[in-house]
Order: sequence, then structure tokens, then C-alpha cells
Amino acid sequence: MRWFLYRQTKAVIHLEHLTHNVRELKLLNGSSSFFCPMVKANAYGHGDLEIAKHLEGIGIQTMGVSLIEEGILLREAGILSEILVFGIFDQEGAQAIVRHRLTPVLSIWSQIYDLEKVLTSQIKVHLKFDTGMHRLGFLPMEAVKLQSHFQDSKKLKLGGVLTHLHSAEDASDFAGKSFSQLKQFKTICDHFLYFNPVFHSLNSAGLLNFSKHQGQVLPFSIPAAQGARPGLALYGLTPVPGFTQFKPVMSIRSQVVRYHQLSIGQTVSYGGTWRAQRESVIGVVPIGYADGYHRTLSNKSEVLFAGKKVSQVGNICMDFFMIDVTDVVKDKALSSFQNQEVTLFGYDREGNQLGAEDLAKRAGTISWEILTSVGERVPRIFERAEVHA
Ligand SMILES: Cc1ncc(COP(=O)(O)O)c(C=O)c1O
Repeated sequence: MRWFLYRQTKAVIHLEHLTHNVRELKLLNGSSSFFCPMVKANAYGHGDLEIAKHLEGIGIQTMGVSLIEEGILLREAGILSEILVFGIFDQEGAQAIVRHRLTPVLSIWSQIYDLEKVLTSQIKVHLKFDTGMHRLGFLPMEAVKLQSHFQDSKKLKLGGVLTHLHSAEDASDFAGKSFSQLKQFKTICDHFLYFNPVFHSLNSAGLLNFSKHQGQVLPFSIPAAQGARPGLALYGLTPVPGFTQFKPVMSIRSQVVRYHQLSIGQTVSYGGTWRAQRESVIGVVPIGYADGYHRTLSNKSEVLFAGKKVSQVGNICMDFFMIDVTDVVKDKALSSFQNQEVTLFGYDREGNQLGAEDLAKRAGTISWEILTSVGERVPRIFERAEVHA
């Protein structure tokens, strides 16, 4: 367990925003009763133990992780909810799943056989089908064989059937790839109705887009109630434009630890990629690429400094980067900006906001990666109060 006494950089986790986002997502989830927030990858970088505890505290009874180890950590922290494990495992993993009362998501036959070898009593499982993602899941044509396997199985109880959308950004379009996947999924689901499982297919983008059809009759007899497994939107970032109701759960804040007064022509950081074109004031911020602030952002990003957007300048280092604060400190005593807070994304203390989505674009990546990259050296501080109106 790491502890931080002197660290000026932190990830503030606004738990009230998580509560708010869950409420909003559940509204969009409509009549489906299956709702499984994804807390894998350290709850998208937010701190899985605290996030899971908070979710449980607001009534969530099912959560999703990728690794068995992630599930064990949650169990050992006292999480009692159902924990779905989406990754592949072998016989040793099967034993751990049983021991820690995790719910496996099965994607290949060897998982079924390994589980059956180690089980002494019945366990609930979910079955995943590959309808076009070509990552994990049984093939649609295996549904019949699986159906009869589950009819005969004394040890496996079918609790859920699922698929994963690969282009959920088109899930509002009946002619799109998502509806083609959902059509296939419907045919698969029909084989398992007898077991009365939950059916789930929607990630954040799927859920937001699919919700646009609330109250409509869907083509191909696709049920209007599709279970959801939101990740990104749970943490307040929106993969679909126009859904502005979500509030970012993470704010990365640091402090300027020293200032430099530069003359025209002087450069900043490794390689001297930024050169002062005027007399400049440069602030040093103690967070770098080892903490998840991608080096590809060098000379491209902005941060909030005293409520204003300022540019990051020079190459980002492992533990530090520099910002150009010349315009903000102009005509003011630099001493009044001692330990000035800097917000990399999320909210500053005054409620000004900087989007992780924008940072992702500048870094040439996606919001998911910005969140999950926030490193171990950044302490998570959990706040329960609302940060802005
Ligand atoms: C199987 C599965 N379901 C749901 C999600 C959540 O996706 P999102 O973060 O886009 O909501 C993921 C994320 O990768 C996933 O792998």
C-alpha cells in the first residue's frame, strides 16, 4: 500500500457525481432490470475499492471486472455484490472464482470444462456470444450445443447471456452495425429463454444511443429492454455528443512548485522544443508521463491555472511538465501565485471545467485511456460533497 505525505498532485474523486451519473444512466436504462457498472481497471483509474463500496452503498448489486484478481480484491475489501469476471481463465482461475464467489462470464468451452471439474455445488454463470467484435465469446452457431449443455448441467446455472457492441456509436440507427449485432443476439437469446436469464449488450455508447428509441417498437423483434454495462459514462465522460447530463468523477489537480523567468530565446525541458518568443514566466508542475500525463501531449495541452486556460510547454518529463503562465501573472506579484493549484482535467475548486475528452483528442487517444492511465503515484482523494452547482 502506497502512502503519500508530500505529494502535491492528486486525483480528486467526486463520489456525489458518481451517484448522479448512476441515477442518469438508470433513467436511460428504462425498463431493463440488468445494470452492471464496470469497475475493472481500478474502476477506470478512480480507485476500485472506494468506487465499489460507494456503488454498493447506493444500491448497486452487480459490478463487472476483467480479472479474477480484481474480483478478489473487491471481495477481500468486503464487497458482497455479484461480481462478474469478464476475462478468460484456466482451471486454477476456476478454483479462485469458486473460492471467492465470483460470477464467471464464459466465452470458450475450456472455461466450462475447467469450472465443472472444480465445482462441488452449483454456480451461476453468464454466457458471452461474439456477434462481430471478434474478441471474446462463443460463436452464434454454438448456441444450440450450449443450450443442451446447460439443460444437462447440474453444476452450471445460466444467469445471463450477453454480447458486446463493437460500434456502439451507431446504436441509434436501425440500419447500423449495432442493430445488426442485436438482431443476431436476439436469435441467440431465443435459445436460452427457458433458463430465464438476464440479457445484456449495452456499453455506455450503446446505452445512450439505444435510449433514443425509448417508447418505440424496435425492428427484428429486438426487445426494448437491453441490460447495460456502462463504464465511461458512469465516470461522467460521454462517448455520444449531446448527452450533457453526466458529471466527471475525476479531477486531476497539482500545484506549481517553482517559477522561471525566461528571456526571449531561452528554451524549456528536454530537447528545447519550446523557445520563449517574449519574456515569459514558466511554472513547473509535479506530474509527468509516469503518472499518466502522456508525453504525446507535449506542447499540445492546456491546464487550468488560477481559473484560466494556459498552455503546457516543452517536452513532458517523467515526473514534471512546464506551463506558460505569462499572461495570467502579468502585472501581479509572482509571490501571490505561490503553490498555485493547476487542474489537468475535471474541475478546479471554483468549478471551472476542463474535459478529459479534449485532452484525449490532443493526445491522439480516447478518454478511456486518459482515465485508466492515471498512475499509482497519484493519490486518490475521495470527496463526497458536490463541487459545483
Ligand atoms: C464487455 C464490456 N462491457 C462493457 C464495457 C464498458 O464500456 P464503456 O466504458 O464504453 O461503457 C466494456 C469496456 O471495455 C467491456 O469490455
